[in-house]
Amino acid sequence: MPLTFAAADATAVPLHAVCPQTLAGWLDGRPAADRGWIEAQGFRAEPGEVALLSDPAGGIAAAVLGCGSPAARARRRFALAAAATKLPARTYRLTLDPDGAALSAEEVAEAALGWLLSGYAFRRYRAAPERAVARLQAPAGIDAARLEAIAAAEALTRDLINTPANDLGPAELQAATELLAEEFGATVTAVVGEELLSANLPLIHTVGAGSARRPRLVDLRWGEAGPRLTLVGKGVVFDTGGLNLKPGNSMALMKKDMGGAATALGLARMIMAAGWPVRLRLLLPVAENAVSGTAFRPGDILKSRKGLTVEINNTDAEGRLILADALALADAEAPDALISFATLTGAARVALGPDLAPVFTDDDALAAALADAGARVRDPVWRMPFWAPYESLIEPGIADLDNAPAGGMGGAITAALFLRRFVSEAGRFAHLDIYGWQPKDAPARPRGGVGQGARAAFEALPQVLGLP
Ligand code: BES
Ligand code: MN
Ligand code: ZN
Repeated sequence: MPLTFAAADATAVPLHAVCPQTLAGWLDGRPAADRGWIEAQGFRAEPGEVALLSDPAGGIAAAVLGCGSPAARARRRFALAAAATKLPARTYRLTLDPDGAALSAEEVAEAALGWLLSGYAFRRYRAAPERAVARLQAPAGIDAARLEAIAAAEALTRDLINTPANDLGPAELQAATELLAEEFGATVTAVVGEELLSANLPLIHTVGAGSARRPRLVDLRWGEAGPRLTLVGKGVVFDTGGLNLKPGNSMALMKKDMGGAATALGLARMIMAAGWPVRLRLLLPVAENAVSGTAFRPGDILKSRKGLTVEINNTDAEGRLILADALALADAEAPDALISFATLTGAARVALGPDLAPVFTDDDALAAALADAGARVRDPVWRMPFWAPYESLIEPGIADLDNAPAGGMGGAITAALFLRRFVSEAGRFAHLDIYGWQPKDAPARPRGGVGQGARAAFEALPQVLGLP
């Protein structure tokens, strides 16, 4: 089922968006039978609530969609999109009630994107019958092509996260990058296995050394001119924790530990589809954090690409290691903006929950742009501090850096501080510590993999980069 808007169709069912405060007035303008029927169903215009109106022949004359109050809409992202899965399989044409100023253009776009994303399902392992679905015509005033490109990118991100590690190893993640590159005329190179050592990417090599599936750095480039934008994504295809093995409960979801890579790939797809005048680079350090005789150990002291030495105090703090080498490589060409996405710490979840992604940056304007944009497009991110007084926590004494400070206090911050050590000009750097997973079904987001921060960045970056 393509995540696209329905073609314009004269027979489309009108879908009237009605808000609680305008419901009575709207009903007054309807025939008595409609009014009675809507009232009989107890319709209160809650966000995403629907009711149907029949025509004399027993068909569907129109449908009504509740907008809810602004406060109710603020509580639930994509609330209006809940209609997409409740309505009978027809094509609908959204009409705002005359007082529909209650819905901003941004909220209409949110509803439209949510409707598209409601069509997403992960079907790789279960031939679910192609059910007919309610489709929406592109509402007036929205950029339909942009929303369709965003939906396609998000579907790519979700598919990659949802694919289990037996079918998505390092080679398959590279192949997915190559497929995307082919579609948009980008180029991909990869440094694989032992080549990582001669290419001076030792931490990626070390983290992947315990797996039979070779680690790699995947490097996509697209665009000839314009500002340099580099995206980095953590691509741990499965995180057992290594020798510091995770308990079963904590390991259960760790197929999603490449969620940063999947999200960065989704963002790259949005940017290429939109044809931004930038020099885009996507760097994915990819490895499987496995247990074996060749796995790295607690106490090992490793030398990074940048020359900084790292004492391993926990093999489960592997993400920051592979990112360290990728960030040092990215930093060498001084991009105008460097954004990393990573399912980096459990501490980020403890701090902000699964739905709100911490963003760390020293650039106040970038932080504000990401937070504002995230709020507008309902892809929320929240600034957290690179708290310099905690720098001492990541200094073990025996080496330059400690990958896992004992006690874990401020764990999302110390992980971010660790990453910052590998970037020379921290001002242009932003790091998002994402969860990448929707814990239970919600409008537009079925339980499973989900992108976080990509839509916020897609909205914020043109201004940040000064694009025309
Ligand atoms: N991939 C995990 C972080 C994670 C766990 C993200 C659960 C989302 C949900 C990461 O590699 C990890 O294991 N981090 C450790 C670091 C610690 C050992 C310093 C953590 O957060 O417990
Ligand atoms: Mn880990
Ligand atoms: Zn991990």
